[in-house]
Amino acid sequence: MAERLSPAELERILSLDEFEPLARERMDPVGFEYVAGGSWDEISLREAAEAWRTKRFIPRVLTDVRSADPAGSFLGRLARIPVAMAPMAVQQLAHPDGEVEAVRGAAAAGIPYTLSTASSRSIEDVAAAAHDAERWFQLYLIDSLEYSRSLVERSTAAGYRAIILTVDLPVVGHRLRDLRSGFTFPPQPHVDQATQFRDSPYGAIAEQQELGLNWDRVGEIRTWTHLPVILKGILSPLDAARAADEGVTGIIVSTHGARQLDRVIAAAEALAPIVDAVAGRTEVWVDGGIRSGLDILMAFALGATGTLIGRPLYWALAAGGAAGIERAVAILHEETRIAMSLLGVERPGLLERSFIA
Ligand SMILES: Cc1cc2nc3c(=O)[nH]c(=O)nc-3n(C[C@H](O)[C@H](O)[C@H](O)COP(=O)(O)O)c2cc1C
Repeated sequence: MAERLSPAELERILSLDEFEPLARERMDPVGFEYVAGGSWDEISLREAAEAWRTKRFIPRVLTDVRSADPAGSFLGRLARIPVAMAPMAVQQLAHPDGEVEAVRGAAAAGIPYTLSTASSRSIEDVAAAAHDAERWFQLYLIDSLEYSRSLVERSTAAGYRAIILTVDLPVVGHRLRDLRSGFTFPPQPHVDQATQFRDSPYGAIAEQQELGLNWDRVGEIRTWTHLPVILKGILSPLDAARAADEGVTGIIVSTHGARQLDRVIAAAEALAPIVDAVAGRTEVWVDGGIRSGLDILMAFALGATGTLIGRPLYWALAAGGAAGIERAVAILHEETRIAMSLLGVERPGLLERSFIA
């Protein structure tokens, strides 16, 4: 397997898409396919990035853009760019130190890091690796409500600042690449402590539906912690409006990286009607296929208040460790800064629908 990239080699990478082939050379093929894959025929996977790229900007001119700055904020705290690292399982597939290395990269780059329930390192180890950094915990209900609650309590105690509750995984999507390769989850501290459903390749997260993930349960989970709860995996404006009615802090418009339902609407298409439905009552973040500064700014023009990126940062971790993630964020920062000046805005939050054809 190839060596991790040197700082000089990382500097020569100029776009996020370049990380994937570099990661492929450095990962076990079964793990690579697990990360790269989607569900069923991967129709939504192919469409996700393209859906951002088919939209067109209408720039403004003669505005003062001398202090154009791509910084954003999540939950009132500043981020160097308005991008968070999406929760992704078992990051040991990309790097021996997995999430510990990844959180260091996100912290150094100045973006929030989301730890998956299905992580290869523990809640506490990841907290210790980047104590002061903006960290969120992604919750899957696993095993029992008591056990799931203990994960929320541990992450609250360990200084995570939000609970990202994933609501689009009652069961795991039909993932043919994993069935063909025989992929199974490597050991994971939180999931392996659970006792149920060990016979699934995805361990205890495979059957979240067994624990009754429904609106009442969301209300109950919110009583487990004082942290803001964000619902991840909303695609219908009806669900978005319900989330706003229930008073959740935020929602993430997401297809789960096209790994759950296939032939599902692209996040880029689902976003605007959802922004309209919540009418400013919750944060609206979006992920799926965001690969460049232009995609980030298109999401803002459609009304998003933040974005998350998944696979490219996994690939960056595999290719260059923490420094790889730093490089990916530096690329996005540069792309976003240049594009903002060309769009005629000094902050991403100043974009709105009049900037889209
Ligand atoms: C390898 C992999 C593992 C993932 N694991 C989780 C997870 O544990 N929890 C979760 O909520 N989403 C998970 N996701 C979905 C991501 O959080 C995110 O929604 C998606 O990757 C965004 O799309 P992108 O990869 O095109 O940027 C995973 C995605 C990938 C690629």
